[in-house]
Amino acid sequence: MSKFSDIKKDFPIFERDINGKKLTYLDSGATSQKPNSVIDKMNDIYKFNNANVHRGTYVLSSETTHEYESVRYKLQSFLNASESDEIIFTKGTTEALNFLANSIANKFMGEGDEIILSEIEHHANIIPWQMVAEKYKLTINYVKVNDDFSLDLDDLSSKLSSKTKVVSIVGESNLSGMLPDIKEINNLVRSNSDALLIIDGAQLVPHRKVDVQDLGIDFLVFSGHKMLGPTGIGVVWGKKELLNSLDPVYGGGDMIEEVHYDKATWAPVPHKFEAGTPPYVEAIGLGAAVDYLENLGMSEVEKHSDELREYGRKVLLDIDGVNVIHAEQDIAGCTFGMYVDGVHAADLSLMLDTHGVAVRAGHHCVQPFHRKLGIDATIRSTAYIYNDKEDIDTLKSALISSVEMLR
Ligand code: ALA
Repeated sequence: MSKFSDIKKDFPIFERDINGKKLTYLDSGATSQKPNSVIDKMNDIYKFNNANVHRGTYVLSSETTHEYESVRYKLQSFLNASESDEIIFTKGTTEALNFLANSIANKFMGEGDEIILSEIEHHANIIPWQMVAEKYKLTINYVKVNDDFSLDLDDLSSKLSSKTKVVSIVGESNLSGMLPDIKEINNLVRSNSDALLIIDGAQLVPHRKVDVQDLGIDFLVFSGHKMLGPTGIGVVWGKKELLNSLDPVYGGGDMIEEVHYDKATWAPVPHKFEAGTPPYVEAIGLGAAVDYLENLGMSEVEKHSDELREYGRKVLLDIDGVNVIHAEQDIAGCTFGMYVDGVHAADLSLMLDTHGVAVRAGHHCVQPFHRKLGIDATIRSTAYIYNDKEDIDTLKSALISSVEMLR
């Protein structure tokens, strides 16, 4: 029996009926559901161990500090990072990218320098760069997307130069599921510039084994809540020497070495970047999520996603009246953007909900990509470890009946 065949029993939300139907949750790109092990771990911390971290002079605080710091080691192993100190906790991907944009621009960038993003980035990997570009008089260039939803790497090469200081690219598209060739991007960046390479792993890290040393990148960011963990916790992984060279963006709490009335010095990495009381219960919850995924095995998680994606391509690509935005490459995520001419995505999503099918409707925080495709909004199905072929079948039959009603 497959490890995934009765996995729904680990997730209490699947005990619910929605509109009298079994829940078919296909919005994990927005947030994943949580297994009992994550919920129980966080409850246990609040019930039995709770005390603030970094103040390990009594039992409770020693316990939470130990649990919190041990998650850095779990993530070091999960990502194959060189050191646990390379793991910085943030509130999520958005805060991670805001931190990197501000800290890198402040340290390494000046008027006329260039940032390269791509045309398929979500807002969290656009707006922080727009904000620092305005402040420091920087230019942003966008790598073109091809008709098959891959990135135009010739266009990337032509845009790289000695002026490029940062390249920040999505690891997996949240609309088409496309997986850019990160190693090839890394080679191009190294050969044509001295830029730092950041990968936005919000959609990638939950679904595929990521080895930061093998990829050769400089920074990786991702969120806990899309990979079975709680909200309010995310990660920046960065090469230690780069983290050492950056300055903090937020001040206060235990991020210091010494504070005087007129000056302060910073604690070593990682704590200099974790101002104030960190979301330690959320970080510990993320640790339980990593345990759950490691127990399944990330290669099995990838295999499951690839099988469901293959099935999704068979079942979803030729539904009458439904246009599908989905990567054409051999390997991609199980993410399908969809729209029906003349039908608003929100109406379609509401109709699907009457069948118990939960999908996201709107621009999914990739408004520029939608605009480029000439579409206002889409519905989006994003599958995860607890989805199965039956969920895809339910989506198909709900789509057929909803489209009939709405057209
Ligand atoms: N960027 C997230 C999504 O794709 C929120 O839904």
